[in-house]
Amino acid sequence: MSAPAVSSLRQSSSASQAFEIRPFDAPLGAEILGIDLGTPLNAEDFARVHQAHLDHGVLVFRDQHITPEQQIAFSRRFGELQIHVLKQFLLAGHPEIFIISNIVENGQPIGLGDAGKFWHSDLSYKELPSLGSMLYAQELPEEGGDTLFAQQQLAYETLPAELRAAIDGRRAAHSYIARYADEVFEGIQRPRLTPAQLAEVKAVVHPVVRTHPETGRKGLFVNENFTTHILDIPEDESRQILAELFAHSARPEFVYRHQWQPRDMVFWDNRALIHLATGCPRHLRRRMHRTTIQGDAPF
Ligand code: OGA
Ligand code: MN
Repeated sequence: MSAPAVSSLRQSSSASQAFEIRPFDAPLGAEILGIDLGTPLNAEDFARVHQAHLDHGVLVFRDQHITPEQQIAFSRRFGELQIHVLKQFLLAGHPEIFIISNIVENGQPIGLGDAGKFWHSDLSYKELPSLGSMLYAQELPEEGGDTLFAQQQLAYETLPAELRAAIDGRRAAHSYIARYADEVFEGIQRPRLTPAQLAEVKAVVHPVVRTHPETGRKGLFVNENFTTHILDIPEDESRQILAELFAHSARPEFVYRHQWQPRDMVFWDNRALIHLATGCPRHLRRRMHRTTIQGDAPF
């Protein structure tokens, strides 16, 4: 990955970059053209990007040529970074970068093969789930490998009144290990979690409907990957309600499908969206670098 050395050395630049924000013809998402994330953004540019992220939920920065250090530096502008529990898949020397990849080298997977074949919001199983994630394409397959995003505020606003009433004020449990073993990727099991890793991912409780801390908009905050049950109601009722919520939350009218282009850097809002990896055929190589920004406790 080559990046102009001079831009990483520059601490701040007062000149604005002339970038364009183009919303997609979709329920969410926008592409950003003509920006270099390797150059520290000045306050005005950062404010534009920040606002666009809140407005569109997914930002696609095209054609980025940046180093891991530069990805980390840009990510940190939004908050503290989270280190993934699967330590074996962190980039050497840069634990802030989590490798998502189906590539196996010397019999060992170099990254998490399937980062999410079930709909999810990253790290919803933590007390402080992630604000957003940045996924940077390093190597893309010739086919497949798309990522889907679904707008959960729209999902909440369009819930049938009865269902909305049933979840009003409710809380739900989230667990990393609930479906961990179900995520068999092309016949490859996920690595076994060690006792130390298990201790890091104790179940947590979050509101079923969360208020976005920056926009104030309410959205659904449950997902089929990590949400196990709604508290304080009978188990069969919880199961039924969650099944209805999961079905509603991924309706096509809330979804944007991202078809990756080389050197895309995609930044999504985990407080407003859920997402899903569609996967790619086993013989094709896919490798991505993810940074994960810590968010607030949901309320
Ligand atoms: C992730 C994720 C989807 C993909 O990185 O958090 O869910 O398509 N990735 O790789
Ligand atoms: Mn994910």
